[in-house]
Amino acid sequence: VFRNKLAFFAAAKVSSSFPPPDLPEIAFAGRSNVGKSSLLNALTRQWGVVRTSDKPGLTQTINFFKLGSKVCLVDLPGYGFAYAKEEVKDAWEELVKEYVSTRVGLKRVCLLIDTKWGMKPRDYELIDLMERSQTKYQIVLTKTDVVFPIDVARRAMQIEESLKANKSAVQPLMMVSSKSGAGIRSLRTVLAKIARF
Ligand code: GTP
Ligand code: MG
Repeated sequence: VFRNKLAFFAAAKVSSSFPPPDLPEIAFAGRSNVGKSSLLNALTRQWGVVRTSDKPGLTQTINFFKLGSKVCLVDLPGYGFAYAKEEVKDAWEELVKEYVSTRVGLKRVCLLIDTKWGMKPRDYELIDLMERSQTKYQIVLTKTDVVFPIDVARRAMQIEESLKANKSAVQPLMMVSSKSGAGIRSLRTVLAKIARF
């Protein structure tokens, strides 16, 4: 599926403007600046369709991208962005929560965690919500190129340990670098399987 052409298809600021759930969806969630948009680019090898930025908080709407006519990839706005106005922050967060817990056709949420910083309270909050709504999710450690391999392994163990009791988590967790390309192929394989069902 990842050979298909990626095309932007809808942006939503409120749930009433979500497009009809015609395709299976895979969504990318996580803190602001964790590398969601970059991962979409790396997975599809199509740069320029999804915008990325070193300024956190770039993605401010839920963006839907079609991969051919097979699957919809969804770039969620990041949470925990410190500079945004309170009310704007709350609105994004509510929107993400609503999407993640109610979306029909949502096959998997990739929850991105920065390898260097690890899990934060907001991440746990989202996990709790996905557990309650029985949304299947996959933890993906990002930016593995910026830490030593030993620290990647350590971080992975630490997260696995803290998630042991969770039922909706699809283990094992994956590790990627959009920059070096490490782990991208494996994640592509996993997601391609999901998109088929
Ligand atoms: P928001 O849209 O603000 O939620 O951010 P995002 O999660 O979409 O992050 P984005 O993909 O825009 O990337 C944020 C910054 O991290 C950019 O400067 C990227 O170049 C950088 N980045 C993303 N992935 C990697 C990676 O694998 N390695 C390194 N070193 N930097 C990365
Ligand atoms: Mg983004």
